[in-house]
Amino acid sequence: MRLGILGTGNIFSRYVTGLNTFPSLQIARVGDIDTTRAKEAAAEFGIVAWGDDQELYADDSLDIVVNLTPPVHHAATIKAALQAGQHVYVEKPLATTVADARGVLEVAVASGKLLGSAPDTFLGSASQTARKALDDGLIGEPIGASFFIGHSKAERWHPDPRFLFQAGGGPVLDMGPYSLAILVNLLGPISTVSASSRIGASVRTVTSPNRVVDTIDVDVPTHAAAIFSFASGAIATAQLSFDVWDSHLPHIEIYGTEGTLSLANPNHFDGDVRVKRHSDDEWIVLPPATALFGAVGTPEQHRRGLGVNDLAQALEGGPHRANSTFAFHVLEALCAIDDSSDQHLPITLQSTCSRPAPA
Ligand SMILES: NC(=O)c1ccc[n+]([C@@H]2O[C@H](COP(=O)([O-])OP(=O)(O)OC[C@H]3O[C@@H](n4cnc5c(N)ncnc54)[C@H](O)[C@@H]3O)[C@@H](O)[C@H]2O)c1
Repeated sequence: MRLGILGTGNIFSRYVTGLNTFPSLQIARVGDIDTTRAKEAAAEFGIVAWGDDQELYADDSLDIVVNLTPPVHHAATIKAALQAGQHVYVEKPLATTVADARGVLEVAVASGKLLGSAPDTFLGSASQTARKALDDGLIGEPIGASFFIGHSKAERWHPDPRFLFQAGGGPVLDMGPYSLAILVNLLGPISTVSASSRIGASVRTVTSPNRVVDTIDVDVPTHAAAIFSFASGAIATAQLSFDVWDSHLPHIEIYGTEGTLSLANPNHFDGDVRVKRHSDDEWIVLPPATALFGAVGTPEQHRRGLGVNDLAQALEGGPHRANSTFAFHVLEALCAIDDSSDQHLPITLQSTCSRPAPA
């Protein structure tokens, strides 16, 4: 499959590293509205063709566009690529609003092209190990779950973290997709969401090296508490925050009638999954259900591109796991957090999805 990568910013190099580990995927072109960036990226990684966004859409030798633009550009750029006849894999979130995402899905259907979306960490060994444990009935029937998202400290490492504090960002849409995609993969679709959210500090100070701004005016809530009721009957409690700098809360836990499952960092592909059943005295680390991508904590684990490979395999007739229906449902549930907070009401979701096939 010939890939065109749209957007050569901060996450680009990790995608190149990840995509290069899949022999059937070839990065054939890069495109960026900042063509200087595209040229430098092509030179650094030996990619033959580079140019602006329009040249990428016009390149009919490409099979899949890997969209790494900032979230506010996702809806327009996905549509442009689909309408140009390209299959698309987009970074999270699918779009910054439910209405925009719905419009994107309509264009995808009309175009007959496949649309996949991050996050793809739920395809990694840690999440798949948890999926197998649940499907095998290891902790009985899931009754509850919890997840906690703390500070990404982006002001310290991202040269231009403005998009993280604007529409489409915040802990809810920037980090929320990782945890919630894993929970929907484990527990199935969500029916209602109740939440409260607020802005923490209205101005953030940026200290990252090579920063392009010193301060950011915050436009989106940076602290949220939410309750997700799943169609299965399970209830998850969550805290999503860019205002909690440190805590001892776990990343994700599932509470079943027979025991508890504790998951690894949802932003990583691998990591230990532990179980403690009522009969166990100690937590037990489960054997990985799928192959590891490298030792825990090493760069090899950054398998960005697993979702692109998932889309490529779907084009060959395989199951499409990180698909747009799934991503849309996760996005609708996350957007319901601020809606519920604003309206002081639980929100009933309009969409649903199937649990993706186990990997
Ligand atoms: N940075 C991370 O660690 C990280 C991690 C996981 C996912 N992501 C996701 O990846 C995406 C990109 O994040 P980033 O941190 O690389 O952003 P970034 O701002 O560093 O880079 C985005 C690039 O896209 C280009 N661009 C903007 N609009 C465009 C358009 N219309 N057409 C073509 N190019 C365009 C910009 O010029 C820039 O080079 C986001 O959706 C983000 O949520 C980022």
